[in-house]
Amino acid sequence: MIFANRFFPATRLRRMRKDDFSRRLMRENVLTANDLIYPVFVLEGANREEAVASMPGVVRQSLDKLLYTAEQALELGVPMLSIFPVIETGKDNAGAEAYNPEGLVPTVLRELKARFPELGLMTDGALDPYTIHGQDGIIDEAGYVLNEETIEVLIKQALCHAEAGSDVFGPSDMMDGRIGAIREALEEAGHIHTKILAYSAKYASAFYGPFRDAVGSSANLGKADKSTYQMDPANLEEAIQEVAMDLEEGADMVMIKPGMPYLDVIRRIKDTFRVPTYAYQVSGEYAMLKAAFQNGWLNEEKCMMESLLAFKRAGADGILTYFALDAARLLKR
Ligand code: PBG
Repeated sequence: MIFANRFFPATRLRRMRKDDFSRRLMRENVLTANDLIYPVFVLEGANREEAVASMPGVVRQSLDKLLYTAEQALELGVPMLSIFPVIETGKDNAGAEAYNPEGLVPTVLRELKARFPELGLMTDGALDPYTIHGQDGIIDEAGYVLNEETIEVLIKQALCHAEAGSDVFGPSDMMDGRIGAIREALEEAGHIHTKILAYSAKYASAFYGPFRDAVGSSANLGKADKSTYQMDPANLEEAIQEVAMDLEEGADMVMIKPGMPYLDVIRRIKDTFRVPTYAYQVSGEYAMLKAAFQNGWLNEEKCMMESLLAFKRAGADGILTYFALDAARLLKR
């Protein structure tokens, strides 16, 4: 025996790893369906369902079909949907369709709320699905996204969504001061229970590509990017400042986006602020994993669950993920 005559550490970490019962006893983090938010893409009209080529397994569907999806989410214990519209008619330079009370999102909200009152509904606060240029706000002649002018429209959008039944408004536009302005407007209008999940640390990431295909904004955006308002992927300290501002202005929850390449940001934010913190496992992360699954290069179930658990370990209270229903189904087994 190699170690017979010398001291060997009394602590052997493998002792606790040896048996399933002890591994379960010492497990620090668990993923449950309660941690999942399911992003859905909704189309105008009826009886429509389209695959999103760069997001295998994800569809864009009209409201009648979305009702089945919502019902499944509810049955699986997924607490909330995040609704993203595919706007085919009515795009303009000012994003006016964003606050049309008869528009796609308000219509979907009213119907879903009536059918499934206990299912949480989140809507996105930004103008990119509604603008011809694909930017999240109002632009000037040079293409610069104007802060205050954009906030004015976001306020109208927030009020319109709250009126139609949105439980959680998620500004994803990254304008300065929008959380405070939206909060104030919601309070004044009596929407005191409408929560704000601020996309606080949202990076100017190339991982959003497939999403822009899904909502049909990539062609509009063209070669332009969003780096004059979304954060530089090189920065961490700036994320702290962003979150501090949003909390000060009244955000109930904060988000870091994208997810897996930014786990360090999640941990820093959670440790610093100790508030409800969410991660968005974005379209490009989903596409990347799915591509590997389809090639048989990665084990689908195991890698999906490991990728989601990693967010919990990093400090996230919940995850927006296109895997939400698949993961919840697996958790139920
Ligand atoms: C729009 C918005 C985007 C995403 C969520 N809301 C795209 C963007 O900022 O260009 C990305 C989500 C994903 O990639 O899954 N403001």
